[in-house]
Amino acid sequence: SHQWHGVIEEYRDRLPVGPGTPVVTLREGGTPLVPAQVLSERTGCEVHLKVEGANPTGSFKDRGMTMAISHAKEQGAKAVICASTGNTSASAAAYAVRAGMVCAVLVPQGKIALGKMGQALVHGASILQVDGNFDDCLTLARGLSEKYPVALVNSVNPSRIEGQKTAAFEIVDMLGDAPDVHVLPVGNAGNITAYWRGYTEYAADGIAARRPRMWGFQASGAAPIVRGEPVTDPRTIATAIRIGNPASWEFAERARDESGGLIDEVTDRQILAAYRLLASREGVFVEPASAASVAGLLKAAAEGKVDPGQRIVCTVTGNGLKDPDWAVAGAPQPVTVPVDADAAAERLGLA
Ligand code: F0G
Repeated sequence: SHQWHGVIEEYRDRLPVGPGTPVVTLREGGTPLVPAQVLSERTGCEVHLKVEGANPTGSFKDRGMTMAISHAKEQGAKAVICASTGNTSASAAAYAVRAGMVCAVLVPQGKIALGKMGQALVHGASILQVDGNFDDCLTLARGLSEKYPVALVNSVNPSRIEGQKTAAFEIVDMLGDAPDVHVLPVGNAGNITAYWRGYTEYAADGIAARRPRMWGFQASGAAPIVRGEPVTDPRTIATAIRIGNPASWEFAERARDESGGLIDEVTDRQILAAYRLLASREGVFVEPASAASVAGLLKAAAEGKVDPGQRIVCTVTGNGLKDPDWAVAGAPQPVTVPVDADAAAERLGLA
């Protein structure tokens, strides 16, 4: 059949699974690679968006979670735990349900989007709001997994990176080769690590002729890799990437350096401008953190760092519905009309 079977079945020979691994899946992956007309015009390049908000729980985390939860089940785990800015917890909660496991999540109090909190709740996860930031949550989750019988499913778990590398495979499978540049938001730095691994494996096996330059973008108020030191009080409206001490910091720098790429910052203002452009001009609704990739591309173009004619892929990591406050904020209130065609036509400027 033409049904997509999820990343483990689609890329089984490239993932660390055996015949006995129970596959816990929501048929994640197989996400759209959408040509971006307006971004292509603005940059003089061929720009594509890898729309990861189309995954079952609305973010790229599902690619890694199918692997992490399948491995946890294989190892007999009854419970999983994660620290999260929201998307990891939503994904872990859903996949834990599929696996018949208990899921505990640690989130920074008051700093995760409502949609993500709703997902963790409706999937029945145990949620602890921590009086601290994401980095504190991760420290706590690591400590708990070391002392108690609960499997850690953050991206410090190598299975997560393995699953997430499949996004790079899909892009090469679609385009016939790697792009010239791959752009993505950076928070805990797991995803940039995963894409680089995916591109590297395909190039090593001759499936791709080349590897892209990796361009990662952090939010200015949460840009430890750009600053060269941890940020103790990370701040940004892009709550998903509000992280001051990324777990995969060194891997991200390696991806940057080995690819001849860069890790730079974008301001919240630039993030919101890109968020609105994606929605209003490309028809793609993403959450603010996801727009950091596109904001970064536009910043690099304005700085003359983008040579025309290149093929560029921007990953947009999460669905806009997770955090709709930013869509509604500042927008005009819809007008109310009676059930009357002439009145409605007048308000619409048709009359
Ligand atoms: N975009 C979104 C929507 C995210 O949720 C995250 C990370 C990132 C980008 C950054 O990816 O951490 O691999 O560099 N969210 C994690 C979470 C931290 O808990 O959901 P990264």
